[in-house]
Amino acid sequence: MKTKIIKVQNDKLEANDLKDIKKAFEDGKLVVFPTETVYGLGANGMDEEACKNIFIAKGRPVDNPLILHIGEISQLEDLVEEIPKVGEDLISIFWPGPLTMILKRSKLISDVVTGGLDTVAIRMPSHPIAREILKEVKLPIAAPSANISGRPSPTSFKRVLEDLDGKVDIIVDGGRANYGIESTVIDLTVTPPMILRPGGVTLEDLRLIIPNIAVDKTTIDSNDKSIPKSPGQKYRHYAPKAECYTFAGNLENIVKEINKRIAQNKNKKIAVLATAESLDGYEGADLVINLGSRENLVEVASNLFEALRECDDQDIDIIYAEGFDLVGIGAGIMNRLLKASSGKIVFGL
Ligand code: TXA
Ligand code: MG
Repeated sequence: MKTKIIKVQNDKLEANDLKDIKKAFEDGKLVVFPTETVYGLGANGMDEEACKNIFIAKGRPVDNPLILHIGEISQLEDLVEEIPKVGEDLISIFWPGPLTMILKRSKLISDVVTGGLDTVAIRMPSHPIAREILKEVKLPIAAPSANISGRPSPTSFKRVLEDLDGKVDIIVDGGRANYGIESTVIDLTVTPPMILRPGGVTLEDLRLIIPNIAVDKTTIDSNDKSIPKSPGQKYRHYAPKAECYTFAGNLENIVKEINKRIAQNKNKKIAVLATAESLDGYEGADLVINLGSRENLVEVASNLFEALRECDDQDIDIIYAEGFDLVGIGAGIMNRLLKASSGKIVFGL
C-alpha cells in the first residue's frame, strides 16, 4: 500500500488533514501519529478488524494487548466497568500525560484489544498533535508503539518510516517525541496498585498519591524469572541487532569495566552508550554515543531508542551501555536497557 505522509508545522494540523485522519480512522485504516512518549500506530479501538491489522503491520504477538488512547475523560465511561477513587486522583494529576491505567474492561471492548484479558489499558496523551486528533476523532484509538515488534520504539518520523512505510495508510510527521520512553503502566485492578512498566511518570511521583504502591519486580530484576504481569514485558524488546550489555554502579568503575571489555574484543565493532560526564573516558570503541547529561535523565531517556537504532545503522556487533540509578525516570531507562540487553546487566560495579 502507498503510505500518505502528513507533515505538521508548529504542532498544528491543517483542517483538511485533520478531516482525512478522522475519515481514515472511521474507515478502519491505520494511522501513525506522534505522542509525547513515542510514535503510536493507531486504529479505531472499537473496530476489531482494524485492530487486527495493527498486529499484522507490526508483526506483534496476539496475546500482547493494546492501549486505548482517549482525548476526553468522558470517554472512559463506556470503556471500563468502574473507575476506583485512586484512578480519579491519578487522572486529575497525571492526565493528559505519560500514564497508562489498567482498569476492568467494559463488555464493549474486543478481545483483540485486550488479548483476552478482563482488563483494559487506557491513557490520555498530552502531545498537542495527539490531543488534536483524539478530540476530533472522538473514538478510543488503539495504539502500540509504531515499530516492528521487537525493535526499539520510534521517537522520530524517520524511524517510523523505516519500519512502517508501505504498511500503514497515513503517517503524521510531528517531529521528535520528547520523553523518548513509553508511558508508565499501572494496574489499578489489584491492591495495592502495581507498576507493570516504569516510564514517563515516575515511581516517586506516583507514591505521592499511592504511598504503598507496588512494582512488578520483573520490570527491573534480571534474576527474577517469574512471568511479568504485563504481557508485553515478557518479550525481547527494544532490541538492537547487536549484543548489548549494561553496567551499573560507580561511574568510574563502569568506565574501567567497559574499557577492559573493549580491549578484550578488538576484532568486534563496538559502540558505547555514554553520558556527557564520561564521554571522554573511552578508548578504542568504534562509536561512542552521548545520551546526554546524568543531571538530566529525561534527556537521556529521549535519546536512548535513537541511539540503539544508530548502532544498527552502523552495524555494531557489541553495545556496552552505562547504567543509571533506579531513581526517577532512571528506572524506566534501566527497564528498557534490561530488555535491550536480554537481561545482561552487571550491577554493583
Ligand atoms: O507511551 C506509550 O504507552 C506508547 C504510546 C504510543 O502511547 N504506547 C505503547 O504501547 O508503548 P505498547 O503496545 O508498545 O505497550 C503497551 C504495554 C504492553 O507492555 C502491554 O502488554 C501492556 O501495555 N498492556 C496493555 N494492556 C494491558 C492489560 N490489560 N494488562 C496488562 N498490561 C497491558
Ligand atoms: Mg511497544
